[in-house]
Formats: sequence, structure tokens, C-alpha cells
Amino acid sequence: MATQATFRIWRGDAAGGQFQDYTTQVEEGMVVLDAVHRIQAQQANDLAVRWNCKAGKCGSCSAEINGTPKLMCMTRLSDINLEAPVTLEPMHAFPPIRDLVTDVSWNFRAKKTIKPFKPRTPDAPDGTWRMQQDDVERVQEFRKCIECFLCQDVCHVLREHHKHDEFIGPRLLVYAAALEMHPLDTEDRVSDLRHKHSIGYCNITTCCRQVCPESITITENAIIPLKERVVDRYFDPLKRLFRI
Ligand code: FES
Repeated sequence: MATQATFRIWRGDAAGGQFQDYTTQVEEGMVVLDAVHRIQAQQANDLAVRWNCKAGKCGSCSAEINGTPKLMCMTRLSDINLEAPVTLEPMHAFPPIRDLVTDVSWNFRAKKTIKPFKPRTPDAPDGTWRMQQDDVERVQEFRKCIECFLCQDVCHVLREHHKHDEFIGPRLLVYAAALEMHPLDTEDRVSDLRHKHSIGYCNITTCCRQVCPESITITENAIIPLKERVVDRYFDPLKRLFRI
């Protein structure tokens, strides 16, 4: 592995910015976040970067590394070509605050527009519920989400078309799926998925699934089953006939 590498880091804020090159020492075992910390300590004390766990679990250090949304703490330098400058940018789907830090608060506001968990009446003699293990396991995968929002960042509906006012994006469709498929939930979110959350904008290109650091099968296990519920209700010709 090279002993030095150049990182081309976007510096700026909401008003604009530009890339700046920093060359620093690198060693075996380092991740991108280590290099950023070294640059921050030795060359750019005012470089803004958000991080917390350095273990791929808090979802704070999301950025674009050579144009791909990734966690900086989980991207090993040994997996990157260090012969050319390594480009580091803030996520494109959200407004920049400063340098590598973006304002992701839209996600939390949009989350509140999804109908919350509404459990059925307890059905066991002790006043609790019983669930089938299969049903529990079906939604367990969705609960691995660390809310890094890399899937939101890569989604062309948000990233290119800026449909934040209409579309909730893959992360929040996963959240909706976790509620919709929960064995105890009784809420009906199908109409909202179609009309309020615009699930129809997703054209299942699987970009979101490909960048998920938790390997959640976003497209196949969450979005497609939700789309099927919408199609069943609104576009199934037989059901439509009987509804009329
Ligand atoms: Fe927590 Fe990277 S610092 S996921």
C-alpha cells in the first residue's frame, strides 16, 4: 500500500464551495475517516466532519467517496486506488451545512408523516400478544437500519429530481415496510403509500440496496412488497370490479 495519499475534499457551505487537495501519510489498516482525522489534526483544523461510533453503527459519517455514497469509517484505504486523488464530498441529496456535513433533518420530518404503529388488542390470557416466528423474522431485517441515509442519497428521485416534498425515499419505505408487515400492526398505510409518499416514483433500480452498509434487501424485501399492496388495491382489475 502507498505510504502517502491525496484526498480531494470539498470545502464550503450552503453558499458554495470548492475542492481542496490534502496529501497525508497513510498506513495499513486505515479507513477513510482516519485519513480525514489526520488531515483535520495536522492541516485543516476547521474541516467539518460528522462521526460518532467509528464502527459502522451510528450512521453519522456518510459521504461520497470517489462519487459513491459510503460510510467513511467502514471504507478501507486498502480498497481504494490511492494512485489518484481520493475525492470526498458531502451527500448530494441533502443541503450542505459545512464541508463534509449535510443537513439530514428532512428525513426525520418526513418520518413523522408515516402513520405510527397501531397494535391489535392483546390476545393472550396474560394480556400480551403471540406472534409467529416467521412473521417476526420477516421484519427483523428492516430493524438493522442505522439511518445513515446513503440509500436516500443514491436515490435518483431525491438526488436528481429533488422530490423531497412528494417522495419519502428508500429509507422511509423500509420504515413503512417494518410497520406494514409487523404481525401486530393494524394500521392501513396503503393509500398513503400511493398518494402521500409516492411509492410509484421508485422504479426499482436497486441502487439503494447496493449502498446499504447493513445489506438490507431494500428493493426486494421492502419496496416491492409495498408496491404489490398498492397494485393489489388500486390496479387489480378483478378487485376493482368488485369494489365498484
Ligand atoms: Fe458511526 Fe461511521 S462513525 S457509522
